Amino acid sequence: MCGIIGYIGGKPAQGILLEGLRRLEYRGYDSAGLCILDKGRFQLRKKKGRIEELAAALRKEPAGGLCGIGHTRWATHGAPTDANAHPHTDQSGKLSLVHNGVIENYTQLKERLAAAGHTFTSQTDTEVLAHLVGAHYEQAGNDLVEAVRRALKEVIGTYGIAVMHTDHPGLIIGARRGSPLLVGLGRDENFLASDVSAIVAHTRRVVYLNDFEIVTLTRDDFQVTTLEAAAVSPQIKEVEFKAEDVERGAFPHFMLKEIFEQPRTVENALRGRINHDEATARLGGLNLNAGELRAVDRIIFVACGSALHAGMVGEYLMEDLGRVPTEWEYASEFRYRNAPVEKHTLVFAVSQSGETIDTLAAIRESKRRGHRTLGIVNVVGSTIAREVDGGIYMHAGPEIGVAASKTFVSQLTIMSLLAVLMGRMRHLAATRGAEILRELEAMPSKLERVLAENDNILAIAKKYCDARSALFLGRQYNYPIALEGALKLKEISYVHAEGYPAAEMKHGPIALVDPKTPSVFICPKDGVYDKVMANIEEVKARKGPVIAIATEGDAEIARKADDVIYVPDTVDCLTPLLTVVPVQLLAYHIAVLRGCDVDKPRNLAKSVTVE
Ligand code: AGP
Repeated sequence: MCGIIGYIGGKPAQGILLEGLRRLEYRGYDSAGLCILDKGRFQLRKKKGRIEELAAALRKEPAGGLCGIGHTRWATHGAPTDANAHPHTDQSGKLSLVHNGVIENYTQLKERLAAAGHTFTSQTDTEVLAHLVGAHYEQAGNDLVEAVRRALKEVIGTYGIAVMHTDHPGLIIGARRGSPLLVGLGRDENFLASDVSAIVAHTRRVVYLNDFEIVTLTRDDFQVTTLEAAAVSPQIKEVEFKAEDVERGAFPHFMLKEIFEQPRTVENALRGRINHDEATARLGGLNLNAGELRAVDRIIFVACGSALHAGMVGEYLMEDLGRVPTEWEYASEFRYRNAPVEKHTLVFAVSQSGETIDTLAAIRESKRRGHRTLGIVNVVGSTIAREVDGGIYMHAGPEIGVAASKTFVSQLTIMSLLAVLMGRMRHLAATRGAEILRELEAMPSKLERVLAENDNILAIAKKYCDARSALFLGRQYNYPIALEGALKLKEISYVHAEGYPAAEMKHGPIALVDPKTPSVFICPKDGVYDKVMANIEEVKARKGPVIAIATEGDAEIARKADDVIYVPDTVDCLTPLLTVVPVQLLAYHIAVLRGCDVDKPRNLAKSVTVE
């Protein structure tokens, strides 16, 4: 996934574009560039590496002008190099373009353009698109919008683009299909961006473009049309969050800030959604009445990565509390499976970004089969949020750290509400429903107590930061937390880790146990505690160091484990909300101790919008 920004107004574009790119860097950080139109000429600067490389180049050679486009890249076609960095220009050098997405038929287009005399300086699909628009430009009578329209009709694949031409100072064209793009409406200035975080410091009035829409942007106006040139009446929306929500504040990393935000995150997910009188939840966005909810005969959670792990917890919740047959599926697998599915199946997409292409494709496949699709999504106006039949917004605010943290806890909170809602229509007694809702409302203060363990967790991280591998083990509700802990450690510290159901260890993974390989056991005082304790013994018998995540007051665990991180007691089904925080902090501290870039880990991007 890449980040795009465009500015047109009365202020120097360079600073605005650079700051916007910094806010978008979490979307991709292999290279960055900008192009500003100044006195009829392009000022084009682009550099391999982080935004700071580009900033250094601009300090040496500033780019003047009031209209420009910028891009931060997560490489798909072509290695991260200066030449492959966006923006790209066309054959004439008078058209400049940035792109987020994948042009699937770029090879054929490139061959045709090369045969017509075009020469290319990069390996990217984006440069081909720039040349294609340029090739249409003259045939379209130098009408830039028409040239973009004609070129995009030839494209197979996904795009979010911004285009400028030296013949049209004060004009930026944007278009999208499958990659997010929005218009920011300022006072005597307008913006284009991949997501709101890039421009929220300037305006909170936005228009989310839909697929196959094109926007013509000037400093004081904008028009939206379809690819077929039909006029579109855009909906202007007010953004929920503020500029400081995308600031790091006093924290050294966004990820640590977002881990410490989790008490507020749970409050935001619960707000207005608890019906105490009836001991149930209120989730109006599902767009399903009681009869339809009662008729649901299966739920399938489709997601990727951490969101999938949340869906795995959702499976336990939905079956335990909701009494609804439930399964989870890797979205990338589900979209190709040919599973027979019942009539009243709900397919739930879980996605913080709402742009993950595999999850989006799973939803589209489900809709094609006539299933009702719902979403648990964080980014308002995202593609998945707009394509599902209903859903529940997470209201977690922007998550800048590439590794999911607060959005995972938000998803767990929402799934707990959903399970109570479904359960109270079936077998869940009011007393039990009330107990779970009370415990949910107590979660923010309980999370504060877990966060207070931060120094203890840092001390443990120091003991194990040189480990070359780690095992994460849990049962039932906490098996997905074992997987999440392993993913967190892998993705931000690059240490190999495996998550397993604790009992499964004996079927192979226990061979990995040795004095240098820590095993993290998630073993709150729940219904499977004794079984997990037995698994701990098995590891200790083979001299494996054990880090235990346990319930406050459990003295026995301290006699068995080498290190213990305590979390407050709660009902079994809500333990993941608490046990995930220690594995988040353990991974965070180990990554920092290993000198890793916690917020922008190598090879990753915040949302994977390519297959
Ligand atoms: C988790 O830390 C990663 N950031 C990644 O696995 C992420 O959860 C996954 O790509 C799904 O993203 P989404 O929630 O935006 O769909």
